Amino acid sequence: MTEVFSAIKISDHVYWVGAIDWSIRDFHGYTTPHGSTYNAYLVLADKITLIDTVKAPFMNEMMARVSSVVDPSKIDYIVSNHSEQDHSGCLLKIIDQVKPEKVFASAMGVKTLKDIFHDPNNILPVKDGETVSLGNMDLKFMEARMIHWPDSMFSYLEKDGVLFSQDAFGMHLATFERFADELPAGQLEYEAATYYANIVLPYSPVVLKVLDKVAATGWAIKIFAPDHGPIWRKDLGFIIDLYKKWALQKPTNKAVVVYATMWHSTEMMAKAIAESLAREGVCVRLLSMNDAHRSEVVYEALEAGALIVGSPTLNNNILPQMADVMTYLKGLKPANLIGTAFGSFGWSGESVKDLEATLKEMKVDVVAEPISVKHVPGKDVLEKCSELGKTVAAELKKRISN
Ligand code: FEO
Repeated sequence: MTEVFSAIKISDHVYWVGAIDWSIRDFHGYTTPHGSTYNAYLVLADKITLIDTVKAPFMNEMMARVSSVVDPSKIDYIVSNHSEQDHSGCLLKIIDQVKPEKVFASAMGVKTLKDIFHDPNNILPVKDGETVSLGNMDLKFMEARMIHWPDSMFSYLEKDGVLFSQDAFGMHLATFERFADELPAGQLEYEAATYYANIVLPYSPVVLKVLDKVAATGWAIKIFAPDHGPIWRKDLGFIIDLYKKWALQKPTNKAVVVYATMWHSTEMMAKAIAESLAREGVCVRLLSMNDAHRSEVVYEALEAGALIVGSPTLNNNILPQMADVMTYLKGLKPANLIGTAFGSFGWSGESVKDLEATLKEMKVDVVAEPISVKHVPGKDVLEKCSELGKTVAAELKKRISN
C-alpha cells in the first residue's frame, strides 16, 4: 500500500520530512491566507540526524515522512535550530519516542527550550562556529541571533552544501512544490516580502550582519533549506539580494495612506491626500482599516518612503482598528519613513495628536502639519489635504534623490 506521506530528497544525503499546513490563516497576528509549511530535514549520515521538528499537531505527518526513509528509532541526533513552537512543539515527544543519542541547540536554545518545556532533557549547547561530526560528514553551527529569536542558529552540512537557515529565507506558503524554482518568481517575491515584513523586519540590522557573517565563512552553499516554504537550490542570489534590499530599508517613491473611518469624513481626507500624492507622481497605496488587515499594511510599508495615518476620535481615542495597526507597525519598526497624521472629530479630538505621537515614537519624520477637522471636511479642509499630499511628495522626492 502507498503511504500517505513521504520524504522528498533535496540533496545526496538530505531529505525534507516536514509538514504542510494548508489551513493556518493566522500566525501570531500575521494573516497567512496561503497556509504554511513547517520544514524538518533528515540527514542520512553515519549519525542519522533530524534538523528541527514541526508544530505539535503535525508530528505524525513528520514521523510518517521520516518512516518512508528510515526507521525513526535509528535517528541518532536531533538539532533544534530554533525553539519557537512551530519548530519545537513536538520535540519532547520525538525525544521520548526516538531516544536519540544527543540533542543539540544553541546555548540560548537550551535555555529557551527549558523555559518552554520545563523538562530535564539533557539538550547539549553548541557554540557559534562549532563543528559536530556525524561520522562520515560534519555539521557546522552558526548563531543567527534574532533571526528570529535570541536562540536562532543556522546549521551547515558541508558535504552537500546545505544551509539549514530556520526562519531566514522562509515564507508562509503551503504548496506541494518543494523547491523555489518550481514557483513563479513574482509569487516567491510577494510571499517572501510579506514574511519578511511581518516577521523579520524589526531585526533588519541583524540580517545585514548575518548575511556578511555567512559570506565570510566562504562556505560553498548550494541550497538554502529554511523552516518555512520552498527550498532554494538555484539562484540563491535572488533571495539574498531581496533580503539585503529589505534590510537596508531605503525609502522609495511610495506612500502608504492608512486610515479608519466612522462617517466617511476621515475617508474623504484620506482620498484627497492620496489623489494629491498620485498627481505628484508618487506610487500610493490607500488602505482602509475598516476592511484591510494589518499584515497587508506592513507588507505595503516594507518598501515605502512615507506613512500617512488617519483616524477619527472615538471616546477620546483613535478608532480600535487604527490602534491595532499602529501597535503592529510600531513593533515591527519600519525605518527611514516620513509621514504625518489626519482625522476628524466631533468634540474632543484627541486622535490626530495621538497618531502623531505614535509616529514620532516610531521615529517617523513628521514632515507636514497634521490636519484635524470637526465633523465633516469642507472644501477648505480638502484643499489642505491636497497641500499635505504635495508637501509629503516633495519631501519624498528630496529623500530618495539623496
Ligand atoms: Fe518559524 Fe520563529 O518560528
